[in-house]
Amino acid sequence: MEKFDIVIIGSGPGGYVAAIRAGQLGLKTAIVEKDKELGGTCLNIGCIPSKALLTSSNYFMFAKKEAAKHGIVIENATVDLNKMLQRKDKVVKTMNSGVRSLMKTNKVTTFEGLGTISAPGKVTIKSSDPGAVAQEIETKNIIIATGSVPVELPFAKFDGKTIVSSTEALSFTEPPKKFLVIGAGAIGLELGSVWNRLGSEVTILEFLPRIAVGFDLELSNLLQRSLTAQGITFHLESKVSAIEINNGRATATATKGKEELKFEADKVLVSVGRKPFSEGLGAEKVGVEFDDKKRIKIDKHFKTNVEGIYAIGDVVAGPMLAHKAEDEGIACVEGIAGKDGHINYDAIAGVIYTNPELAGVGLTEEQAKEKGMDYRVGKFPFRANGRAVANEELDGMVKFLADAKTDRIVGAHILQHAASELIAEAVSVIEFGGSSEDLGRTTHAHPTLSEAVKEAALSVEKRALHIINR
Ligand code: NAI
Repeated sequence: MEKFDIVIIGSGPGGYVAAIRAGQLGLKTAIVEKDKELGGTCLNIGCIPSKALLTSSNYFMFAKKEAAKHGIVIENATVDLNKMLQRKDKVVKTMNSGVRSLMKTNKVTTFEGLGTISAPGKVTIKSSDPGAVAQEIETKNIIIATGSVPVELPFAKFDGKTIVSSTEALSFTEPPKKFLVIGAGAIGLELGSVWNRLGSEVTILEFLPRIAVGFDLELSNLLQRSLTAQGITFHLESKVSAIEINNGRATATATKGKEELKFEADKVLVSVGRKPFSEGLGAEKVGVEFDDKKRIKIDKHFKTNVEGIYAIGDVVAGPMLAHKAEDEGIACVEGIAGKDGHINYDAIAGVIYTNPELAGVGLTEEQAKEKGMDYRVGKFPFRANGRAVANEELDGMVKFLADAKTDRIVGAHILQHAASELIAEAVSVIEFGGSSEDLGRTTHAHPTLSEAVKEAALSVEKRALHIINR
C-alpha cells in the first residue's frame, strides 16, 4: 500500500494550494478530488466563471452605455450569449489544466474519486465511474479541505431549472425575463448584476434592512444606490416564506413588515449562504468533533481533536473565502512540516465584484462602534481623483478607520470599479501594523486611483489635498 506524508481531501483553492506548498517542502503528497476536474467550487462553478461573466457583461454595458461618452460609436451592441458562455467555459478549462500541471510539477499524486477517512491515517477513494473499485491509501497526515455547498430554503428546494443555485445561474442559455434573487450577499449581488446587464429584470429580496452584510454600512448603502441606478430593484427587510412553481414559472411570497408581497419570476436564485461540506467523509466515524454549524472544530494549528487529521477553508469557522482557505492550507502544511505558518485574520479582505466593486478589510465602522473603540475616520471620494475623472468612474470612495490614540489603521473600505485591486495596499499596511500617517506620507504615482487611498489616509488627519476637509 502506498504511504504518503500528507493526503489532502478536496482540490479547491484551500486543498490544491496546500498540495503545492507540501510539494515545495518535499513532502510526499496526494490530493483526492471527487469531481473530474481539479479546482473545486471557486475555479469550476464560483469565483472564476462568475468573474468571466462579470467582465464580459461589463464590457457589454461599456459598449451600450459608456462608449459614446469616449467618442466611440458602437451601434446596436448586442450579446451572443452562447459565445459569452463558451468563453467562460474556456477560462475554466485553462485554469483546470493549469492546476493539473501545478500538481505534476510539484510531484503531487492526484486521485479521482470520493475520499473518505476509513481510519486515522487511512483514506479510501471511490470513483463515481461504474464498476470502479475502492482503493485505500495510507498517510501520516490528512487535511480535510472539502469546502461548502449552497444552503437550500426548506420550502424551495433547488430543482436546477426554476429554483437554482449559483451553479445553474452561471449557465442560463438565455437571460430570464424576470430574475428573482433571494439574498443580497456576494453571490446574489454579483449574479444579479450579470443578468441585469444582459437584459433580465432583476429583483433582489433581502431579509436584513441592508445589502452586503459584513461590509461597512455606509459603502454598502452607496453600492445599493449604484445598483438601483443600473436597474436592479431591491426589497429589504423582506423574508421569503413560500415559492410556488406553476408551468416552470415561480411565484414567491415575502413578508415586508405587515405587508405580504408576491413576485413572479422565470428563475429564482437562492443565495442565502453556504454551509460546510463536512458530512459523509468518515470524519465523524473516526471521532472528529464538529461545532453546532457542522463546521469541523480545529485549534490554531488547524488540528482536529484526532491526531493526524487537520481541516482548513470553508469546512472550518471563519469567512468562506478562497484566499482565506489558501492561506490556511499553507499555514497548516507548514505546521505539519515543523515550520511556523500563521494567518492574521484581521487582514483578510472581502470583495464583492459588482460595478463598482465593494472591498473591505479589518473593522467596519459599525464594528468599531460596537467595540467602544476610540477611532478616527478618513474619507476620499473618487470624483476628486484625477484618474477616476479621466476614466469616467466617479462612483465610490475610500474610507479608513484609524485608532484615535495610536493612528494604527484598523479598517479600510473601498467602493470603486477597481476596489478589488486597490484594497491590497490597505491589507499590506494593516498586516505591517501601519498608521494612516505612514500611508499618507507614502508617494503614490500620479495619476492613479491609488492616490485616493493615500488621500483618504491623509483625511484621517483632516489634511487631504484635493478636497475641502471637514
Ligand atoms: P451571504 O451569507 O453572503 O448572504 C446571504 C444573504 O441572504 C444575507 O444577507 C441574508 O440576510 C439573506 N437571507 C437569508 N435568508 C433569507 C430569506 N429567507 N429571505 C431573504 N433573504 C435571506 O451568502 P451568499 O451570497 O450566498 O454567499 C455564500 C458565501 O460565499 C459567503 O460566505 C460569501 O462570502 C462567499 N462568496 C464570496 C464571494 C466573493 O468573495 N466575491 C462570491 C461568492 C460567494
